[in-house]
Amino acid sequence: MSKIEIKLSEIPEGKSVTFKWRGKPLFVRHRSPEEINKEAEVALTELRDPQHDLDRVKKPEWIILIGVCTHLGCVPIANAGEFGGYYCPCHGSHYDASGRIRKGPAPTNLEVPSYEFASDELVIVG
Ligand code: FES
Repeated sequence: MSKIEIKLSEIPEGKSVTFKWRGKPLFVRHRSPEEINKEAEVALTELRDPQHDLDRVKKPEWIILIGVCTHLGCVPIANAGEFGGYYCPCHGSHYDASGRIRKGPAPTNLEVPSYEFASDELVIVG
């Protein structure tokens, strides 16, 4: 009932699409090999909320996030900010392409919802 099915074939590489799920924005991003490598190489010591990229994804090509800034709840902009991920214009929080907070007032990473890959082409969030 409160699940959402997302057809991944409709999201080309490099693009982030926003869906609405349980009243919140849901970001689904098809990451490029460059983004995957870049996020995998970030040292945990550089992070305010240390989490390895591989602990935030099930398949490295896809990052799935709740699109709510962990500062005061604004909706970040995709493919923006100094770290190539998401930028929250309300007070200037910069997230990387793993949704991890890198700069600005937000205290924690963007939340990863629970989801499953039903197939290579279909993900079910919720
Ligand atoms: Fe995003 Fe304040 S709500 S930086």
